[in-house]
Amino acid sequence: MITLSNIILTIGQLKKYFVTHQGIVKAVDGISFFIEKGETFGLVGESGSGKSTVAYMVVGMYRPTEGKIIYRREDISRESKNRPHTLKKEIRIVFQDPGTSLNPTRSIKQILELPLKVHNISKNHKDCIDKIEELLEMVQLPVDYMYKYPSMIGGGEKQMVAIARAKIRGGTATKISVIRIITVSNQLSL
Ligand SMILES: Nc1ncnc2c1ncn2[C@@H]1O[C@H](COP(=O)(O)OP(=O)(O)O)[C@@H](O)[C@H]1O
Ligand SMILES: [Mg+2]
Repeated sequence: MITLSNIILTIGQLKKYFVTHQGIVKAVDGISFFIEKGETFGLVGESGSGKSTVAYMVVGMYRPTEGKIIYRREDISRESKNRPHTLKKEIRIVFQDPGTSLNPTRSIKQILELPLKVHNISKNHKDCIDKIEELLEMVQLPVDYMYKYPSMIGGGEKQMVAIARAKIRGGTATKISVIRIITVSNQLSL
């Protein structure tokens, strides 16, 4: 059920215009959507349709020309570069194909185990497995994925493993909401 308290991010009539030598580029021209806690939201569009620009505004790298970005209950559309550190940790970009950052010779279990041990977060082997299960559940991956290797899972799933790993030092196991950026082409090759 959609309730107000479940909504983590609201984007309202968001616009970004770039002033260039060639004139004004309307990269994003009035997009609106909302994301619930734990939801994976797909932002789909052709190359050049403004998906990255939306993401950059959400993380505060670009200031919107117009419109609102509401995170939890706070309007963060005006605070871009000087956002508080806590907010920067909560809203992050995970770039596509983090395959390169996941060691292909290690299982997902080994990948997540290492920081748990290095930072003394897991007390013993059983606790370590429990924590890995918790992390996988948090990013909505099946727990038996711990026995897979990066090459056996999809690009989006690898991103979720990278998010889980990043969360190890980040603390609380809250549900993660994700905007997935998907490029589609309307060019049909015949
Ligand atoms: N910094 C910028 N200055 C000028 N134009 C830009 C800038 N960033 C993006 N654009 C333009 O805005 C449009 C949307 O770009 P982008 O958000 O990267 O699209 P997508 O991620 O969907 O491929 C494109 O036409 C792009 O050329
Ligand atoms: Mg892009």
